[in-house]
Amino acid sequence: MKHVTLLSELLAAKRILPKPVGLVPTMGYLHEGHLSLVKTAKRNCTSVVVSIFVNPSQFGPGEDLTSYPRARSQDITKLRGAGIDLLWTPLANEMYPEGYQTWVAVDEVTKRLEGAGRPKHFRGVATIVTKLFNTVQPQQAYFGQKDAQQAVTIRQLVRDLNYPIDIVICPIVREADGLAMSSRNTYLNPTERHAATVLFRALSNAKSAYSDGEHNASKLRSRMKDIIGADPLAQAQYISCADPDTLQELQGDVSYALLSLAVFVGKTRLIDNMIIGKKE
Ligand code: PAJ
Repeated sequence: MKHVTLLSELLAAKRILPKPVGLVPTMGYLHEGHLSLVKTAKRNCTSVVVSIFVNPSQFGPGEDLTSYPRARSQDITKLRGAGIDLLWTPLANEMYPEGYQTWVAVDEVTKRLEGAGRPKHFRGVATIVTKLFNTVQPQQAYFGQKDAQQAVTIRQLVRDLNYPIDIVICPIVREADGLAMSSRNTYLNPTERHAATVLFRALSNAKSAYSDGEHNASKLRSRMKDIIGADPLAQAQYISCADPDTLQELQGDVSYALLSLAVFVGKTRLIDNMIIGKKE
């Protein structure tokens, strides 16, 4: 595994990688969720590039940019073990040099859900992902369903900007008790860690209600709301039953939907989601 930092080194190293090249963008503090993307990329591509960059522009004021967990040497060991070809850990001053002023903004699909509470978040994500696509020029790029709205945003960006890149969305990897793996789970103390399964329990309850014939969007939202509301450590920010492609909130009976939620457990903000039904 080659590890590069400077943009000039990345451009030289990527030129000699056999195609197809698969890119896995990450912010590091790698767990099995990230590594599942790497494994899938390894299966499908001749070369795999992973980037680790805690992208400042996607963090809002008061969010956890400075405290975001970092574990560079463990990450390197994991990626070496996974057999990737190239690791790129860009420098902030090469990604956002003094006087930086160009942004990529995906419009409609970023307005709701995560975008409603985090106004510039997806502008930051779309901009850094565009920069990674332009520099690495992969044939495929891998993202997780864990960040469902991010996945929809990237698909939209690739369509709108005519990138010749296949976007592969990989399923959510969970802990044994259902908690979706996330670098931010490390913020939870033992009591909060226990309470954090409430997201999975709420989603699972709504999903099995759907299987048992409850197809009404408002009733499904209410079920999730009641379960989150019953936990004294949990505070919901949004609870949604939306169209998986447009992310518009659904009303009445649904046949295909994205159930998603953002919940504070103590001071830690967690997100999770499940798909119900089938696309017609
Ligand atoms: P990060 O949170 O590090 O996640 C990197 C990738 O791993 C994302 O595509 C995310 O959806 C995926 N992922 C995280 N947890 C997962 C899990 N439990 N199961 C499956 N996939 C999971 O998402 C970002 O970084 C950034 O926004 C980034 C795209 C790198 C742009 O800065």
